[in-house]
Amino acid sequence: MEFLNIALPKGRLGEKVYDMFERSGFPCPSIKEPNRKLIFENGEVGVRYFWVKPSDVAIYVERGAADIGVAGKDILLEYEPDIYELLDLDLGKCVMAVAAKVDFRDDQSKTLRVATKFSNIAKKYYSEKCRDIDIIHLNGSIEIAPILGLSDVIVDIVETGKTLKENDLESKETIVPISARLISNKTAYKFKQSKIDSITAALAELVRAKND
Ligand code: PRP
Repeated sequence: MEFLNIALPKGRLGEKVYDMFERSGFPCPSIKEPNRKLIFENGEVGVRYFWVKPSDVAIYVERGAADIGVAGKDILLEYEPDIYELLDLDLGKCVMAVAAKVDFRDDQSKTLRVATKFSNIAKKYYSEKCRDIDIIHLNGSIEIAPILGLSDVIVDIVETGKTLKENDLESKETIVPISARLISNKTAYKFKQSKIDSITAALAELVRAKND
């Protein structure tokens, strides 16, 4: 049987995502064994799962190393990979937001210094508002930037808001809601469409049942 290659985001979100695939009729029991393997397959149902860094899932799918995968909407908006977005899995929900020190007031006459991991999302957001900005691209711990005066604001993911609160920052504007999305490689979707469609339909049914 031909395998469907599925890239899952490694980590807590990935385990929830795998559970959804399992409940959709595409189990792979070996994935739950306590080891450090990264690739698992179940020939009976024709699926091969692999764990990749969450921010890399879209690259595997875009280039066809994976047929389908699960990536955050943040990554899809930031990198705009050439893939199909098939389904909102309603997991990993958070928002992309602008945050700053509690007492921050925007002075429109000055260029706004924006620290972020999501440079493209930030550029697009501010260009639509015709606001002049200076992007300071960071790779993590973004919340430190306004505290140390490296930036005026940050554009980052807010889930519980705990990180902001504990660093005396607050969310000032919401840019866009984020959640995990099922994505497909475009060519794979042509050649493996019936299998991809049946997985998508089964996952969609789970999402519907959860929201009822
Ligand atoms: C993300 C984000 C915030 C935090 C928000 O960081 O960048 O720092 O989660 O979550 P909260 O609102 O529940 O506190 P992540 O853990 O992905 O690591 P990072 O520092 O590499 O961005």
